Amino acid sequence: MFQSIITEAKKKILLSNNSNELQQVKVEFLGKQSSFNQEMKKISNLAPEERKLLGQQINQVKEQIQILIEEKQSLLEEKEQLERFVKEKLDLTIPSIPTTRAGSIHPITQAMEELIQVFSKFGFVIKEGPNIESDWYNFTALNIDENHPARQMHDTFYLKGGHVLRTHTSPIQIRTMLNEKPPFRFIAPGRTYRSDSDMTHTPMFHQIEGMVIDKNIHFGHLKYVITEFIKDFFEQTNIEVQFRPSFFPFTEPSAEVDIRMNGSDKWLEVLGCGMVHPHVLKNVNIDPDIYQGFAFGLGIERFAMLKYGIKDLRQFFEGDLRWLKHYNFSAFDIPTLAGGLTK
Ligand code: DAH
Repeated sequence: MFQSIITEAKKKILLSNNSNELQQVKVEFLGKQSSFNQEMKKISNLAPEERKLLGQQINQVKEQIQILIEEKQSLLEEKEQLERFVKEKLDLTIPSIPTTRAGSIHPITQAMEELIQVFSKFGFVIKEGPNIESDWYNFTALNIDENHPARQMHDTFYLKGGHVLRTHTSPIQIRTMLNEKPPFRFIAPGRTYRSDSDMTHTPMFHQIEGMVIDKNIHFGHLKYVITEFIKDFFEQTNIEVQFRPSFFPFTEPSAEVDIRMNGSDKWLEVLGCGMVHPHVLKNVNIDPDIYQGFAFGLGIERFAMLKYGIKDLRQFFEGDLRWLKHYNFSAFDIPTLAGGLTK
């Protein structure tokens, strides 16, 4: 009786063509409704000796069938896996679906990175300072006396305890000169704040401060560095630079710099500069008879507008994605003088 069951099972296992069919065979021979289970039910009626014998036989046969099924199962699995590999084969040579690039560098960041790159050519290092300044760093130490218009309420954001939001990056001159020893050659980029808002002013804007202090620095050095950096930044030679006498409390003499591009008849004012005032050097314990130097300050927005043709200052801070996409500066295009500042 068991022999015929085994033969029957063997036949069905052999004929199973896939895991599903084999599973059915398993259910038929080893499941609850199988003939073995029917036999097992009868066992309880038998004498103990016979019961033991029959039970052992049944288990052995079940085990045999179990092994046969498992062997077949692994054969089938291997076969099915191979079939799947063929069917689901990926063609890795097909080009990927193009994705639109997400995110771009803000034009102010771009201009700042380009300016930093240009100044690094002249050996300028980068310094930083806090956005919240004491009145002394922002004004007094820079030779801006009590009555200077920059101190009036309408320009400066005053905070509690004699602090202000820095109105320019010039206090970084003071911090750096107090913390380190001359000579100095650095630029200091950062945010600046003035209580002013119209077509050409935003309450927050960006500047880069520049400073060179050494023995025997003169106005010729200033003119050379400014002229060269402007030509490098705008990446064109057809650009004229003029120095116009001006006034800043922290420089003497002081100048404003205008540029004129492509033979246009309009001069555009781009930055302020001058030879560092002896009072400023004395305020940071540097002897003006030994050390002299020049300083300059420029508005990054202004430079970005002129270079990238941005007409309205306020667009910088509107966060309009279409506007950002239009300029679309890639994070992967690192500005270099050799490779070009902008692509
Ligand atoms: N701090 C000036 C401003 O915000 C700009 C400036 C002018 C900076 C002349 C300088 C300088 O270092 O020498 O308008």
